[in-house]
Amino acid sequence: QPTLLAEYQPYPFTVTGVELTFRLAPAATRVIAKIGFAPNPERPGRHDLRLDGETLTLISAAVDGRPLSPTIDGAGLTVPAAALPQGPFTWEAEVEIDPKGNTALEGLYMSGGMYCTQCEAEGFRKITFYPDRPDVMAPFKVRIESDLPVLLSNGNPTAEGEGWAEWTDPWPKPAYLFALVAGDLAAVRDSFTTMSGRKVDLAIWVRDGDQDRCPYAMDSLIRSMKWDEEAYGREYDLDVFNIVAVDDFNMGAMENKGLNIFNSKLVLASPETATDADFERIEGVIAHEYFHNWTGNRITCRDWFQLCLKEGLTVFRDQEFTSDMRSAPVKRIDDVLTLRARQFREDMGPLAHPVRPDSYFEINNFYTATVYEKGAEVIGMLKRLVGEDGYRRALDLYFDRHDGDAATIEDWLKVFEDATGRDLAQFKRWYTDAGTPRLAVTEDWQDGAYTLTFTQKTAPTPGQDVKAPRVIPIAVGLLNPNGDEVVPTTVLEMSKATQSFRFDGLSARPVPSLLRGFSAPVVLDRAVEPAERAFLLAHDTDPFNRWEAGRALAKDVLITMIADGTDPDGGFIDALGRLLADETLDPAFRALCLRLPSEDDLAQTLHDAGRAPDPAHIHGQRKRLATAIARRLETPLAATYAAMATPGAFSPDAASAGRRALRLACLALLNRIDGGDRAAALYNDAGNMTESAGALACLIEAGRGEAATNAFYERWHENRLVIDKWFMIQLLHAAPDKTAATAERLAAHPDFDWKNPNRFRALMGALSANHAGFHDASGAAYRFYADWLLKLDPVNPQITARMSTAFETWARYDADRKALIRAELSRILHHPSLSRDTREMVTRILGAD
Ligand code: ARG
Ligand code: ZN
Repeated sequence: QPTLLAEYQPYPFTVTGVELTFRLAPAATRVIAKIGFAPNPERPGRHDLRLDGETLTLISAAVDGRPLSPTIDGAGLTVPAAALPQGPFTWEAEVEIDPKGNTALEGLYMSGGMYCTQCEAEGFRKITFYPDRPDVMAPFKVRIESDLPVLLSNGNPTAEGEGWAEWTDPWPKPAYLFALVAGDLAAVRDSFTTMSGRKVDLAIWVRDGDQDRCPYAMDSLIRSMKWDEEAYGREYDLDVFNIVAVDDFNMGAMENKGLNIFNSKLVLASPETATDADFERIEGVIAHEYFHNWTGNRITCRDWFQLCLKEGLTVFRDQEFTSDMRSAPVKRIDDVLTLRARQFREDMGPLAHPVRPDSYFEINNFYTATVYEKGAEVIGMLKRLVGEDGYRRALDLYFDRHDGDAATIEDWLKVFEDATGRDLAQFKRWYTDAGTPRLAVTEDWQDGAYTLTFTQKTAPTPGQDVKAPRVIPIAVGLLNPNGDEVVPTTVLEMSKATQSFRFDGLSARPVPSLLRGFSAPVVLDRAVEPAERAFLLAHDTDPFNRWEAGRALAKDVLITMIADGTDPDGGFIDALGRLLADETLDPAFRALCLRLPSEDDLAQTLHDAGRAPDPAHIHGQRKRLATAIARRLETPLAATYAAMATPGAFSPDAASAGRRALRLACLALLNRIDGGDRAAALYNDAGNMTESAGALACLIEAGRGEAATNAFYERWHENRLVIDKWFMIQLLHAAPDKTAATAERLAAHPDFDWKNPNRFRALMGALSANHAGFHDASGAAYRFYADWLLKLDPVNPQITARMSTAFETWARYDADRKALIRAELSRILHHPSLSRDTREMVTRILGAD
């Protein structure tokens, strides 16, 4: 039985306060809870006390000091209304839990000798009996008893002694924001003075020896705190802010109040061990978790259907932050690449669901690209529709009106309506309807009037057959044939199924630049002549659309090559060459332009055109195009490769990272014709991980990676995060017919610690990301992957369920591959005692053909 949005009811009690005592012991931790309950006026009448609880051994329980033995089932316990006093009462319980045996990494668990927690979404119920739902908020006081030297929880430290510490969090919070950490940890400290002059002590807690890899995270935190004050007027609200790095962590990071817990790969960075992409992600995720303090913690979600209320908004905020810290156009292109690669793929397949889903079996399965990334896009559209000022007024009202609330998407939209006077009833479909709209365009030119006619269409998605038209902000600019912009960016508001927009008084038929900045998450279907794309690539004033024109050109060329084996278009390569040589352009932008569309993207495009993609053929043609580019542009590529070196001390700033990105983009192309000579030279004198990893990838692609692969291992085998890369690079760049065998060999390596999520993802994630290798016609990779999902499921269902999405695109392929994948999926599904997490995912994936 799924949980349904329509069945929401407030909890019958409010919680007035929570006091927890932890007596930590690896296999037998005692948790003593004292919780104040009061009748909730929103639910009149007398109610049973229902508390969630899983994997808990109840030692004792009492209400107002009177012992009792509640009825316990697999999901929690019930105290009948008759056994409860009429008014407020105190619940006390002692339970025993087993952090050491907790391999699911949800609730209280151990990672390398330290205790830590992950409670979102429903992990607190594995710590004690509690109404584990986000609309039940309470102040917490926590006492930790342990011999370990560092004992941390939420809020401010209020007392400590030999073998114990006490923490008090004055801000009422839902249980999913609870956190506890205990271990032998070292701190890197700094401080921040807030805009009203309060000093906050900042600390990042890591294993001894890792301190020198923390400065970038600390610097990112301080910049985030400052930015949130300046951009949103949001000030931090406790005396301390702690971040802990943990090696075993299911997700990226978690915004627990005052005690953020991070996957160590999103904290630790040095030039030698982290790539530019790692630095950028660390900056973005540190900001994301910090920003949750207001969008998530001070204002939380009423129920988990509203997850996008905090995640969509917080992603949107971290994207704005990164745009301000780095290059806004490059950030936008990166975000759209991710959105298309992950969210469009999800939205066009069997796992499509609305930004605000209305039913689930396992909420952890809904921490998706749709909720996060499309959730952020929807906010971007809102901002485009109401403008900067309207957005600022709406957000001020949101913080004002809902501080301390567990809110809904209806509350969110209402502040925009009240602040701007706009009716958002139709706009709300972006939250309730799944699927990516496709936008067809026709043009008309008559007597100086230019008319654009758009038609929107959204294909049915699971459970939603009919799609009503949505409000789509279409940012448009018009260029004269000589390249001048005659109509600057204008936002057209489309709200009907078909709608025309007219531009008068033009002296010549213009060239349209449509959907500038990717103003809405839609697919633009418009057949365009290569000459027009090349024109926009050369002249568009909107950097996003300039890149997009080049992208579309590359895609057209590739699709033609795949269809009829023609030679690649010289015009396209020359246009690319002009861009490469244009030194007025940001190197990071040029690097993006040199990157060819992914094989997965090409497969989806072929499928959309009604053709079954052949992964091996796609792989071959994409390589062929890269080779042709390298041959024709060898001289400028080599010149740029040399010019983009970054000698001297490493700096992770955006400009230096952009130079390295362009340099490696040139290298990847040149590597196709120089037999790996440049990569070998670079590997030998690379002074940073960006170049080492880039060179290693090229050497493997050139078929001469063995020595470097071994050397890399020897140099880094004591660094877990770098060894994750070692696994990943070998699989991402393995030849298609050798991918499954490589995966098998690496899975037998003594360092394949498969219970560690980072390590499992490094190997299996890279395997499934190697499109041609994963979809090799033998089916060997499918089988291997499914075997491992079945092996991991009883140990860590969350990761297993998430990784099953590798199969979400199965319906795209030919009958043979489909049969192979279907067989693996049904083998998984018929496994006795499959987790609820994986069962839900595999059932949905199989659902649509
Ligand atoms: N709230 C966290 C973040 O986005 C993610 C937690 C995900 N947890 C989960 N069990 N799915 O910052
Ligand atoms: Zn988040």
